[in-house]
Amino acid sequence: MMANQNFTHIETHRGCRPYNRMIFGQFLEHFHRQVYGGVFEPGSPLADAKGFRLDVIAALRELRVPIVRWPGGCFVSAYHWARGIGHDRQPSYDKAWRVEEPNTFGTDEFIEWCRLIGAEPYICTNAGTGSPEEMSDWVEYCNLDIGRWGRLRQANGYVKPHQVCYWSIGNENYGSWEMGAKTKEEWGRFVAESAKMMKRVDPSIKLLAAALPDVDWTLNLLKQAGQYLDCVSIHGYWDPLWQKDEPSDYATCMTRALEPEVAIRTTEQIIGVAGFEGQIGIAFDEWNLRGWHHPDGNSMRAIGARDRNDINATYTMADAVFSAGFLNACLRHPSVTMANMAPVINARGPLFVHPKGIIKRATFHVLAMYANLLEEYVAQNWTSCEMFTHDGNSVPALDVVATCDAARERWAIAAVNRHPLVSIRSHIAFEGKSLTGTHQMTTLSGDSPDACNDVDHPERVVPVTKDVCVEQGMVDFPPHSVNIVKF
Ligand code: AHR
Repeated sequence: MMANQNFTHIETHRGCRPYNRMIFGQFLEHFHRQVYGGVFEPGSPLADAKGFRLDVIAALRELRVPIVRWPGGCFVSAYHWARGIGHDRQPSYDKAWRVEEPNTFGTDEFIEWCRLIGAEPYICTNAGTGSPEEMSDWVEYCNLDIGRWGRLRQANGYVKPHQVCYWSIGNENYGSWEMGAKTKEEWGRFVAESAKMMKRVDPSIKLLAAALPDVDWTLNLLKQAGQYLDCVSIHGYWDPLWQKDEPSDYATCMTRALEPEVAIRTTEQIIGVAGFEGQIGIAFDEWNLRGWHHPDGNSMRAIGARDRNDINATYTMADAVFSAGFLNACLRHPSVTMANMAPVINARGPLFVHPKGIIKRATFHVLAMYANLLEEYVAQNWTSCEMFTHDGNSVPALDVVATCDAARERWAIAAVNRHPLVSIRSHIAFEGKSLTGTHQMTTLSGDSPDACNDVDHPERVVPVTKDVCVEQGMVDFPPHSVNIVKF
């Protein structure tokens, strides 16, 4: 059954603008098997001499990951970084996730790993139990060659500075769940004092701070510390599974597809009201359709429950289609200068890592398609399409972004069909002229809305590239699909 005609009109005369590739960023937290048994597994036959899983590095290089945020997340709000450096690593108790932290993967290991995957390191500092001095000492350790901490890094075998450019002050300190949570008044002042000290160490660093699409919190932050910030950091998870791991079905997930863009617009407005439009960007530095599952408590049962995050059947075309829509929202808003999928490895991430190998989940292929097939500029497009309605909630079935090269000669259109059942035929035109001819189309759809990749069927959902013959602008986008048409 072919749905009514829809159209996408691409306006080339309005020019195009570059977008920041940092929107394809990733997040790595010391949580369950993201680090230990994920990226870092000393003794594994799949790891190198330093313990880094080589299959993981190869997969992340496929995604051309531009930046990775580390070490948390809630973990960081009681993490003392100096315990994770040097030759004598003592274990500590992780008050966030109530397990023992071996401290064998610390700052130097993280930065070495980032270099191996070709990504910028982005360090989130402890604004919970930490201090402005502990944060600025961390910058000294990474970026100076003088003073106690700079010299200690050299003594630890890293003669050249790590040159960490991206630093965040705090993680979700607005939330009662966070250790060292603060009031909005405390937060603005704390960020200002921390930023001052960090900038005194290295004025070239880019600074971000924990924020919300909420006027109260973020306007206060910007009034008190906006002068020091390059970005405000916001987070989004749209299928909350923290306490109960009951993932929503495909249709329900689709009804939440517009929420990321609402958060972006709200944050843009707050930045504008504060007088920082064009000066302070948005870093969506934790985002995922699915919230991580970690029920309260520190019993073996509660900690064991975290294994449910690794059930690959959870991550279906719902995750892939939602994630593509999220990336389209970031491409439409130049205010979004960074986004980090949470997390990159295991839990709800695009890559599942087990002792014998890796599974590229459906979302991995979306990230690979966007990172490798899109052009570097975004052009203006107008899309009209039918709505998909479920439980009384309606969202546009089609979500399209047009990308091109600077000369506007090479084009790549990202088109997402959210509808679970019907293919959508859209009329694609450039300045009123219908697209025609044979063009390459890469489609990720799986054989059902609930299709996923798992150990026993690792390639049930993979991108398929074929030539499509376009007549009078008509292009068919299959149900539950992510498509990139190049011409
Ligand atoms: O569920 C994981 C947590 O979600 C991250 O540690 C935190 O930053 C966010 O609340």
